[in-house]
Amino acid sequence: MTIVEGLPSNLAVEAGDIDRELSRRQAGYGRGERMQIEKDEVEILSGVRFGKTMGGPVAMLLRNLDWPNWRGKMAQTGDGAGIEPLDTARPGHADLGGVLKYDHHDVRAVLERASARETAARVMAGAVAKRFLRELGVAIAGHVLSIGEFHVPPALEGSFDAAASSEGKPLRMADAGTEERVARWIDKVKEAGTTAGGVVEVVAKGVPPGLGSYVAWDRRLDGRFGQALMSIPAIKGVEIGGGVSLSSLPGSDVHDEVFPGPGPGEPLLGKHALPFHRVTNRAGGLEGGMTNGAPVVVRAAMKPIPTQSLPLRTIRIGKWEPTTAHRERSDVCAVPAASVVAEAMVAIVLADAFLEKFGGDAMRDLLYNYSGYLRRICGE
Ligand SMILES: Cc1cc2nc3c(=O)[nH]c(=O)nc-3n(C[C@H](O)[C@H](O)[C@H](O)COP(=O)(O)O)c2cc1C
Repeated sequence: MTIVEGLPSNLAVEAGDIDRELSRRQAGYGRGERMQIEKDEVEILSGVRFGKTMGGPVAMLLRNLDWPNWRGKMAQTGDGAGIEPLDTARPGHADLGGVLKYDHHDVRAVLERASARETAARVMAGAVAKRFLRELGVAIAGHVLSIGEFHVPPALEGSFDAAASSEGKPLRMADAGTEERVARWIDKVKEAGTTAGGVVEVVAKGVPPGLGSYVAWDRRLDGRFGQALMSIPAIKGVEIGGGVSLSSLPGSDVHDEVFPGPGPGEPLLGKHALPFHRVTNRAGGLEGGMTNGAPVVVRAAMKPIPTQSLPLRTIRIGKWEPTTAHRERSDVCAVPAASVVAEAMVAIVLADAFLEKFGGDAMRDLLYNYSGYLRRICGE
């Protein structure tokens, strides 16, 4: 269940939009058997009338079609007699910390809730946020920059068009040659009984300057992107723009100089064009915790999936004897799916920042406030 609260009224919300995002998350070369069991389809339960929000929370339900297969082992009633506890902890997953923290003896009590199945809920909320942003002229696209040691050519980094061109590709990579090599490598990784990670990138264009703030640490938008992206399971690094690579360069090669006039980019919203432009975007569209009018570019690095078909060494919980981890149905590589989840998180953070700045109970008020702001900053 996902509940999206704080949406203005008269925003179009369609199940088709949400289902499309859910099926994007389920696709990708290297996903596991679970994706065949679950064909995700949302049920919108509240907050929408005649296809539009009414101003109240929008509740969305996504059924877990795998649940009937677990009725016995995960029963809500009874004492669990006869159910063999799963007492091995997978290195890299929540199993060990989860049983200790919540006082369980059976890892099953941890692993469904800790599963990245929860990212479907993020994608549902993200679909609504994307729809909201589309009304404001913002477009979001994500793609995979690398899997294992295979990178797309550097020219494709930071490009909205490259990210958008990865749509429908099996690994969400904008370069067909790299994708082919990666697919062959994933097959080998699978054969070897192990898993793969990689780096995803999300680009948002049409974002005005001034979202977020420098006045308090928790309002800095770069920090909010960091938290949102880092909270995706298996994401272990987040970068804004040039990120870590900027630290080894002189400032003159890092900061994006500002030039007068609107420049070659598309106008922000309809006819509004900013009175300045830049030719580089190493800052990834963020300076001082605020958007700066350039496209927002964020990256997230995903570690390889913890569940291995050739299991790693671990301990038996309670007895603390050496053993090997259990093999749960699992993905070999979920980096393409992570790029869809990362898009959702970027959309949620941006939608929040728009609502914070332009407020309004109804879409009409918000659009009016937004166009007033654009008229002011564009000097109209
Ligand atoms: C889209 C997606 C799919 C994932 N699929 C699996 C999977 O099939 N098996 C698995 O062990 N981990 C999978 N993971 C990663 C785990 O959920 C994650 O490593 C685990 O929850 C521990 O959290 P941490 O890696 O952030 O420490 C997936 C992650 C994402 C984002």
